[in-house]
Amino acid sequence: MASSQNYSEAAGDLRQFLKELDDENDLLVIKSEVDPEMELAAITRRVYETEDKAPLFENITGRVGNGLFRVLGAPVGLSRVPGQRLGRIAKSLGLPSTATGKEIIAKINDAKHLKPLPPNEVASGPVKEHKIFGDEIDLTTLPTPRLHQHDGGKFIQTFGMYIVQRPNGTWTNWSITRAMVHGKQTLVGPIIPKQDIGVIYQEWKDLGKDMPFALCFGVPPAAIMVGGMPIPKGEDEAGYIGALVGKPLDAVKCETSDLLVPANAEIVMEGFASISETAPEGPMMEYHGLVYPGRSKECPLFKVNAITYREDPILPICITGRATEESHTVWAVMIAAEVLNICQNAGLPIQMVWCPFESHAHWLAIQVNRQELLKLKTNMQDFCVKLGHIVLGSKPGWYIPKVFLVGEDIDPTDLRDLLWAEATRCEPGTSEFLFDEYGNIPLIPYVAHGTKPVRNNKKVVRCCMLPCEFVDEELPWKVGSFKGSYPPDVQRKVERDWEKYGFDAL
Ligand SMILES: Cc1cc2nc3c(=O)[nH]c(=O)nc-3n(C[C@H](O)[C@H](O)[C@H](O)COP(=O)(O)O)c2cc1C
Repeated sequence: MASSQNYSEAAGDLRQFLKELDDENDLLVIKSEVDPEMELAAITRRVYETEDKAPLFENITGRVGNGLFRVLGAPVGLSRVPGQRLGRIAKSLGLPSTATGKEIIAKINDAKHLKPLPPNEVASGPVKEHKIFGDEIDLTTLPTPRLHQHDGGKFIQTFGMYIVQRPNGTWTNWSITRAMVHGKQTLVGPIIPKQDIGVIYQEWKDLGKDMPFALCFGVPPAAIMVGGMPIPKGEDEAGYIGALVGKPLDAVKCETSDLLVPANAEIVMEGFASISETAPEGPMMEYHGLVYPGRSKECPLFKVNAITYREDPILPICITGRATEESHTVWAVMIAAEVLNICQNAGLPIQMVWCPFESHAHWLAIQVNRQELLKLKTNMQDFCVKLGHIVLGSKPGWYIPKVFLVGEDIDPTDLRDLLWAEATRCEPGTSEFLFDEYGNIPLIPYVAHGTKPVRNNKKVVRCCMLPCEFVDEELPWKVGSFKGSYPPDVQRKVERDWEKYGFDAL
């Protein structure tokens, strides 16, 4: 790839993102007819599980002409392209596809320290190429994919971004929350009170007015990443996204409200979330890989009174379930970056945070900066308790019940390292610090369906560092590995002569 490439372009524009995926052999345009009644989702699920190319379905049974819509599966799935496993995450954030987990977290975290760049309002944009209103809209006739056989409906909204604003206009929230088709002009979806959309919805409820919303599909990849990021309440995502991409996003006004939406979005549905009308919603397969069939819940109705869209628009989707899908590559990665930011703002000697995909957004691996840790002259107990209160009591801490504290010799993005550290350095009871003053997201299976605790379900910091790591300048052990057990000249010789011995090149 040319070194002059402007990596931010793909982060700011889905079509550029797809062009670059295609150039890198990480996109598969499927022109043969695919049935949205589960075949499309089954293909996408297999793609997640094999880390294959992102499928762009162009010929979906029931789609009319160049109208609504093509479907993009696994938009931020993992990649099988050599050296680019995290390529779609990296590209979404304006990094080269070869970026490591550490580089990805650094990019997200660094943008936190830049000046926010709020959107730039423009008169029109591609999302205004087509407009339909009122009775022209019939969501039930769209080729909305059925995502899993045990879902309680067809979820059109799994990877779009809601835009809502508090009634006095001082805070605009961009976030991801799911929705299924309910009727010709209605969606239904959960609004969790603790999420920012829930806080803003409550303000509209208190006023006695329905909440205006814009549901935007196919937004700039950096915007959807940040839509899944738990940034502090009252802070606008849009300005931070501008800082992340390096320039403000172009935005256009909605047809039926003053909300601004990304001008290059693929599809925007506009309307009002009812404060009085509800309908049964779900269940839907969850990000932890389980669904409890047959259990629907009453959720607010979202009335759609206008849809604007580009020519030949694309609906990105996420097929939730076992890792690795976007709940893990987007939500979990963005949680990790926000936790690093929270630790560093609190003055803790933490240099890296990762949420292992395989933990399905239930674990955080938090790595200390040892030089800084030693300066604190602390000990395991005091440090872990302090860290636990700061992390587990934070906004992203609500999602995460289990923290693993690791030393500098452990790569938090390498699950083998993390397991080794936990197995060898974390002593049951002694190195585990429990917290029951902070609640947990009720979606965690053992929270909703486990033994009911007297108080909250506990959270834990597992210290995967030995006591000496808090005090000794030099670690007293040596590691039994190719890198740890042989002098550099022997390592170099073995590496150089590897193929001469008869092995395949590594
Ligand atoms: C693919 C995907 C699907 C998500 N679905 C939901 C959802 O249905 N409900 C929800 O409350 N959060 C969902 N989230 C998580 C929220 O987007 C995330 O917690 C975000 O921080 C919420 O925005 P806020 O911090 O502005 O409240 C999803 C995240 C991703 C990446």
